[in-house]
Amino acid sequence: MIKISNLSKSFSGQTVLDHLNLDIQKGEVVALIGSSGAGKSTFLRSLNYLETPDSGSIQIDDFKVDFSQITQDEILTLRRKLSMVFQQFNLFERRTALDNVKEGLVVVKKLSDEEATKIAKEELAKVGLSDRQQHYPRHLSGGQKQRVALARALAMKPAILLLDEPTSALDPELVGEVEKSIADAAKSGQTMVLVSHDMSFVAQVADKVLFLDKGKIIETGTPDEIINHPKEERTKEFFASYKRTYI
Ligand SMILES: Nc1ncnc2c1ncn2[C@@H]1O[C@H](COP(=O)(O)OP(=O)(O)OP(=O)(O)O)[C@@H](O)[C@H]1O
Ligand SMILES: [Mg+2]
Repeated sequence: MIKISNLSKSFSGQTVLDHLNLDIQKGEVVALIGSSGAGKSTFLRSLNYLETPDSGSIQIDDFKVDFSQITQDEILTLRRKLSMVFQQFNLFERRTALDNVKEGLVVVKKLSDEEATKIAKEELAKVGLSDRQQHYPRHLSGGQKQRVALARALAMKPAILLLDEPTSALDPELVGEVEKSIADAAKSGQTMVLVSHDMSFVAQVADKVLFLDKGKIIETGTPDEIINHPKEERTKEFFASYKRTYI
């Protein structure tokens, strides 16, 4: 069980996250939606301390940290428990797909080369890339690169996988293969927080949808409740403009 309490963050006086509270059950897929600038990326980045929250805490099973007095050791532990996949893949360009996946296992988890290789190969197989292990990122398609990034994140067996618009930088014909790999990970019980503008994917994969507006979660429900029957005015407006943009 994961409990995020009172998470706040501002940038030079502008409140971006406003006392957010969120409980996530093991195996749950939570989708975070909202307009551009609502604070979605800042929320994900704050959880693993890529941004420094002003206040708040996170509890992952029996590990609890208060962000206002976090220690270096706690930051490292937190980052071991949370893996993130970014819009722009963020792979090491000079390393093969296999070495990209092995990196965290060797450097962070201190596994032997043999153990790391075994796990990395399994994770690459799960995302359908067994035949691309020795390829460098420049010789992979966007969809393949993102599946390597996903394999790298999953190899760490994170308590929560954080996904920030994982398919929005991809050519449309490559979106499906990445979504399938994410859906497979969800089916296998991986807990996730997904930020996405792709409502059909959100509806397919999420157990719970949160609508974030000006740093607050203003509406929570099932995908059907939030996407098809929003109650709050801001959520309704968001979907009205979403339909104008995407449909
Ligand atoms: N490093 C930063 N310095 C100053 N302001 C920032 C910084 N990062 C984010 N912001 C501001 O915080 C607000 C929330 O940004 P954030 O990137 O979290 O939004 P988002 O919901 O992810 O938007 P998008 O859908 O466009 O990705 C925005 O107003 C943004 O300009
Ligand atoms: Mg963002």
